[in-house]
Amino acid sequence: MIPKSFIQDLLNRLDIVDVIERYLPLKKAGANFVACCPFHNEKSPSFTVSQSKQFYHCFGCGAHGTAIGFVMEHAGMGYVEAVEDLARNIGVAVPQEASNVPQHKVAPDLYDLMQTATRYYRDQLKQSQRAIEYLKKRGLSGEVAARFGIGYAPDAWQNLISAVTNYQDPSLVETGLVVEGEGDKRYDRFRDRIMFPIVNVRGQVIGFGGRVLDKGEPKYLNSPETPLFEKGHELYGLFQAQKSIRAQQRVVVVEGYMDVVALAQHGVEYAVATLGTATTPFHVQKLLRLSEQVVFCFDGDKAGQKAAWRALENSLPQLVDGKRIGFLFLPEEHDPDTYIREFGTEAFESELDNSLPLSGYLLRELTSQIDLHTQEGRSALLQKAQPLLTAITAPTTALLLRKEVATLAGVTQAELEALYVIKPIAPMQRAAPLKAKRSTPSGLRTLLRCLVMLPELARELPSDWHGEGTEGAAIAALADWLRESADETSTAAMIQHFQGTAYEGALAQAQGDVLQWGDDFNVEAEFAGTIAKLHAESRKAELEVLHARGLNSLNEQERARYLQLVQRG
Ligand code: UTP
Ligand code: MN
Repeated sequence: MIPKSFIQDLLNRLDIVDVIERYLPLKKAGANFVACCPFHNEKSPSFTVSQSKQFYHCFGCGAHGTAIGFVMEHAGMGYVEAVEDLARNIGVAVPQEASNVPQHKVAPDLYDLMQTATRYYRDQLKQSQRAIEYLKKRGLSGEVAARFGIGYAPDAWQNLISAVTNYQDPSLVETGLVVEGEGDKRYDRFRDRIMFPIVNVRGQVIGFGGRVLDKGEPKYLNSPETPLFEKGHELYGLFQAQKSIRAQQRVVVVEGYMDVVALAQHGVEYAVATLGTATTPFHVQKLLRLSEQVVFCFDGDKAGQKAAWRALENSLPQLVDGKRIGFLFLPEEHDPDTYIREFGTEAFESELDNSLPLSGYLLRELTSQIDLHTQEGRSALLQKAQPLLTAITAPTTALLLRKEVATLAGVTQAELEALYVIKPIAPMQRAAPLKAKRSTPSGLRTLLRCLVMLPELARELPSDWHGEGTEGAAIAALADWLRESADETSTAAMIQHFQGTAYEGALAQAQGDVLQWGDDFNVEAEFAGTIAKLHAESRKAELEVLHARGLNSLNEQERARYLQLVQRG
């Protein structure tokens, strides 16, 4: 395991500008550096690098991180590999911390535990002829199994005892690897199953899917949601597929683990799967950032049809004009795995080329059980279409679809828009309220921005500090982290520490925000002012509650408090 202090030190010693310039040229723009983003297609640069704060942020696609994160994403390296690469470049050796001295570890590293389990399951696969036979029977080569880190959990209750240093470690339950039964009895969640590690875009294992070898229920057992693993956000296979998705500018979304693996086996490396959940708007957004075309290819059965429609519904708010979303419906008895094995890569890819565009699918479904020759039918169409059409924000797509539905229903576009109460909004009018909101961010958001600039400021928060919402939680986590780290710290070390956690989103937003602050911005004053304002607000709220109850109904203590609050104003 690489010591945390070394990461901090490494991030202090290298310069993110040099690191990124190894891969792409940067241009100075004010206090920052900019380039066209390497993580999505764009013509004007929104990829921004802060040299003073040592992080990057893309205003177009939301990519963000430190020098370590950049190398991981750009070069497709794992965390350890990226750290080693960066250290080598500035000529320092990566120290190793003995991992069997966990006594004084404050927060056991959950990622490390998942990695240990992954390694263990892979080793066990090599030793199980039965599991190897199963994978062979399903047509998988050793290379593909290795690419996806596939393993095997033997048929015993406490396999992991031999893999970890302490089977009683609470982290084992926290990661979902171990289940606590009655009387604190612990046992492995995964037993006698083929193990598919679920990996985040940084290459860290965050969960597993385990398939039975023979018959049994459930067919696939998945890790529960844990601090590392949020199902609606992750896509199976995305880490392995990233490179190919960028190169091909196409991604195909399938339902199953085996579909992804089988497609890769046949050379279709740009496939990902949702994890036993519906496709979420978050999934769609993520994929549209990576590629020009997203094709949903679900199983040919009823469940697949339903999944496709859900995917359509959740895609509507994410549509981007000019990017294509398609739907491929396989023959009923097939899924992508069986299809490509029976008909081959060329046939599958030509099906992808001919997939049904989202608009075609939408109109087909809207009109499928409707008789447009009757007034009732046309009225039903307008009603069914309303929630779908009004969910689309991409202007051109929305316009074209409205026109088409209007024509089908025999009304004019203006009539349809009046019916749906769609006000034609000029782009200028639309931008204004957003901007106004931006310039008066909530107090918490301001605090978080300040902390991104100067993490040390969190030491000034009261020890019982708590705030609401994601920003409040992120601030609390940051303060905790700072209390635990003895050394002087930096923005980059903080960003790196919170990568892949629940707080990453809120922090990333703040990182984007502060890039627009000049280097002479008085962060300390802003921080102190905001804290004072938040205090005043909470006093005011307390006062209002007491006031609303009526002075006569207050007890002595409450009355004293009331007076105190009134006097402080
Ligand atoms: P399927 O039942 O279609 O299985 O589930 P499959 O992908 O074709 O698997 P093979 O080919 O029989 O091995 C599709 C997906 O739904 C989730 C899994 O993600 C699976 O890959 N699933 C299915 C579960 O999470 N649990 C289950 O019990 C079944
Ligand atoms: Mn299948």
